[in-house]
Amino acid sequence: VIMMQSTVVAARLAAHQATMETALKDLFQRYTSTASSLDAAVQYAALQGGKRIRPLLVLESAALFGIAPDNAMPAALAVELIHCYSLVHDDLPAMDNSDLRRGKPTCHRQFDEATAILAGDTLLTLAFQVLAEADLAADIRCNLITAQAQAAGGQGMIEGQALDLAAEGQTLDLAAISYLQQRKTGALIEFSCTAGAILARASQAQHQALAHYARHLGLLFQITDDLLDHHGNSATMGKNTGQDRVAGKATFVSLLGVHGAAQAAAEAVKIAQTALQSLPVDTSLLQDVLHFVLHRTH
Ligand code: IPE
Ligand code: IPE
Ligand code: MG
Ligand code: MG
Ligand code: MG
Repeated sequence: VIMMQSTVVAARLAAHQATMETALKDLFQRYTSTASSLDAAVQYAALQGGKRIRPLLVLESAALFGIAPDNAMPAALAVELIHCYSLVHDDLPAMDNSDLRRGKPTCHRQFDEATAILAGDTLLTLAFQVLAEADLAADIRCNLITAQAQAAGGQGMIEGQALDLAAEGQTLDLAAISYLQQRKTGALIEFSCTAGAILARASQAQHQALAHYARHLGLLFQITDDLLDHHGNSATMGKNTGQDRVAGKATFVSLLGVHGAAQAAAEAVKIAQTALQSLPVDTSLLQDVLHFVLHRTH
């Protein structure tokens, strides 16, 4: 059953990957005017590869409320642009110093550090422009921009990244690692899952149910990322593995061990499932996403 559920998600993910590739290409065609190495680096960092799990969450959470993919696309694009920027900067020598990303040399390896920094800046800025210029009602646009800023900023993903670096060589307790993760990875995933509720002007209760689901999906996502860093294969993953231990990162695996981390992942699945049950719509795809992430190999 689990295999079948994961197959459904994998098929949906493949469809969204193709849609996103086209949408991102169109976007860069409209927003880049010079044939510079900056443009090349921006497209290198955003096109090809990448599971596009955050866009899937935007599009599928929007579909729960009957929002058409075209109307959800700006938020799907925006969150993926922010995610791509975060990876470019995460890989920099001053941060994780990684050589491999999505099966290719990292952006700063392919180009140079200054170009990679600027490519990240460009992706981040474009993400807000995409939302600001979206053909959506003004209140919805404003709410999306605010939510995305909160998720990506100094009390969201960036705070998580800062805590992750500060924690190198430290032993954090479970509460501290959970706090770090909730910002580093959880915040953008929460934005992705609640974007549909914003687009649909859903009730506060429905918004909260999706946020609750997302927080545990985000936890699950980072636990499996940590497990894959520990024992995953760099060729399958398309990124360097074994780096967390070398860098002395505080992760779920470093604190709980492989077995404890796997237990925490299973626990996160259960809580996320329960959160979805309060929604009066068909959430089977979002349920299946949990199993897909739990069993992922990259
Ligand atoms: C990797 O994210 C970084 C984390 C936040 C754990 P993904 O696993 O979604 O990376 P891509 O987009 O598929 O390359
Ligand atoms: C990165 O976390 C999270 C963000 C980019 C915000 P990691 O450093 O664990 O991601 P990977 O393992 O390099 O993809
Ligand atoms: Mg990192
Ligand atoms: Mg990293
Ligand atoms: Mg990692």
